[in-house]
Amino acid sequence: MTASPAQRAAELRAQLNHHAHQYYVLDAPELPDAEYDKLFAELQTIEAAHPELQTPDSPTQRVIGAVLPGLTPVRHVVPMLSITTETDTTEGGAIAFDARVRRELGLKEGDPPVDYNAELKFDGLAINLRYEDGVLVQAATRGDGETGEDVTHNVRTIGQIPLRLKGADADLPPVLEVRGEVYMRRDAFEALNERQRAKGDKTFVNPRNTAAGAIRQLDSRQARDKPLSFYAYGIGDVQGWALPATQSGLLDALAKFGVPVNKLRTVAAGTAGLVEFHQRVAAARDDLPFDIDGVVYKVNSRELQLKLGFKTREPRWAVAHKYPAQEQVTTLLAIDVQVGRTGKLTPVARLDPVFVGGTTVSNATLHNVFEMRRKGVRVGDKVIIRRAGDVIPEVVGRVPGERASYVPNFHMPRACPVCKSEVVRERGGMDHRCSGGVFCPAQRKQAMLHFAGRRAMDIEGLGDKLVEQLIDAGIVQSLPGLYKLGIAKLAALDRMAEKSAQNIVDALEKSKTPTLARFLFSLGIRQVGETTAKELARHFGTLDKLMNASVEQLLEVPDVGPIVAASIHTFFAQPHNREVVEQLLAAGVQPKESAGEADDRPRPLLGKTLVLTGTLPTLSRDEAQALIEEAGGKVSGSVSKKTTYVIAGEEAGSKLEKARSLGVPVLDEAGLRALLETGA
Ligand code: IVH
Repeated sequence: MTASPAQRAAELRAQLNHHAHQYYVLDAPELPDAEYDKLFAELQTIEAAHPELQTPDSPTQRVIGAVLPGLTPVRHVVPMLSITTETDTTEGGAIAFDARVRRELGLKEGDPPVDYNAELKFDGLAINLRYEDGVLVQAATRGDGETGEDVTHNVRTIGQIPLRLKGADADLPPVLEVRGEVYMRRDAFEALNERQRAKGDKTFVNPRNTAAGAIRQLDSRQARDKPLSFYAYGIGDVQGWALPATQSGLLDALAKFGVPVNKLRTVAAGTAGLVEFHQRVAAARDDLPFDIDGVVYKVNSRELQLKLGFKTREPRWAVAHKYPAQEQVTTLLAIDVQVGRTGKLTPVARLDPVFVGGTTVSNATLHNVFEMRRKGVRVGDKVIIRRAGDVIPEVVGRVPGERASYVPNFHMPRACPVCKSEVVRERGGMDHRCSGGVFCPAQRKQAMLHFAGRRAMDIEGLGDKLVEQLIDAGIVQSLPGLYKLGIAKLAALDRMAEKSAQNIVDALEKSKTPTLARFLFSLGIRQVGETTAKELARHFGTLDKLMNASVEQLLEVPDVGPIVAASIHTFFAQPHNREVVEQLLAAGVQPKESAGEADDRPRPLLGKTLVLTGTLPTLSRDEAQALIEEAGGKVSGSVSKKTTYVIAGEEAGSKLEKARSLGVPVLDEAGLRALLETGA
């Protein structure tokens, strides 16, 4: 039986109130934002169709959030309102908003486009900063919009927030309330979780909750240990200061006062401008150093804003245009164990398929048993899946709720699920491994996929389906066997047309002259990634010299330490590995060797470690990294005493701070270019 609209509305109100309390008051949301938005939109729809069902306490009628006992309540001079959410994540959302604004302003078709200030929607928590005569006197959370909490003690720990506005005394407003978002950068969040893991403490779920939790602590040491950031996007109470005529002008003015204002914003003309911004930011989203959940469009002219005014809860001149959620809830159907190229066992979640981060996801990694225990997930649970950018989807945690009375705890198998060899746990390590080596078909498949990969031998068309068939049917047993595949053998396979078979034979032929570095990388020697493979090729010049190198000789290669040297030496000491290499050569594979002579290009950054942070003016991160590596340098993800230089661009944050505190020299892009020329 379906519920009546009245029943459904009551149910939604109860659910939304519960989740809002979890989110705003306890900083412990049980649902991803997208799920909450869906419920909220459903209630709005019911209430719009049945206005008699609207109650004064409906979550649609007010800003939710309550004052935590302990922090001092602060009554906002100007209420802190919320903003309408556009859940149509396509360009339709921007089109609908512009149409609404034009209609409400009484504009006709031929009238000029409305100008909007388009901004990022930062995913943190709203804060009101009150400056009197330029001095920060109070910081408060939004609370229920009317009354928030005094968090001045914690906000003072945020280095980016000026305690005093910039400018001559005479130019500082007697009263200026700056409103914006406190958030945590992803790198700061990852580093924090790294520290938690090292201490054996529980990890945090996402930057937003962590930032919100830190800001609302009574003890400011809690906030200080969790580096936070801030971006301004508006104002509250203002006295004795002439407001700029536009939102863009207002943000410029705030930036002049020394308040952080994000540079990724634009004045967009009409629908076309909004759509362009929405797409541009969508493309840049995964490269931003912090989380956003959408963009915000605001009618730029204050005069027009005043004309449009407010609807109970929200301004009519602004809208939050969301992006597809990067987190979704689904059911964990089963936990399988996957065997990787090096035999590592990974628990993989089989999921009820769910659309997240732009694709349908039915598998997600659970990393390892320890990570799983920490998250406490069991088969049958509702779990939160996160997929951002090209990163492998992962299970973030479980949604609290009922669970069948008995669900057995998950254990790693004692025997490899594929080849039945013994599973060993490395001493002190987190990982379980199948000890089967090349005997294990799973390891062979993964090794073959790695060998054929784009960055290795680059054999187009040799993907997981084909590799699976080749190994399961016993057609190819090891890497050299690939080069014995003829069209006849391939074309006999399921779903393989003669044309595709020919393409694969051609791709195999084409792959026969890799660089020595690619060839070494493709062998899948443990500890030998692309960079090390390049160093080895450069140092030894020929395969023969490398294969016969002693551990001492290997240690002479830049960046090769005892563990890597031992791994390479062990690999080539095993007869079956030497045999694979010999058979590959016999099958016609000819790595391009340099014998050392071809390689006398200057390498000014040899032995130097650089860290990149922020956005450089002309170089992308990959380009900068490639240039540094070509010059012999190494790029690392974190700053330490061993870092030679930090290269900082726009939006550089905690890494830059760390460099300064450790006294590591900091350069900009021009400095990097000079370094690449000369090495000093
Ligand atoms: S303007 C009256 N601009 O999103 C308009 N809000 O649901 C007030 N937010 O509570 C909000 N980035 O915490 C505005 N560029 C931005 C924003 C932004 C993030 C947050 C803010 C607000 C919520 C709206």
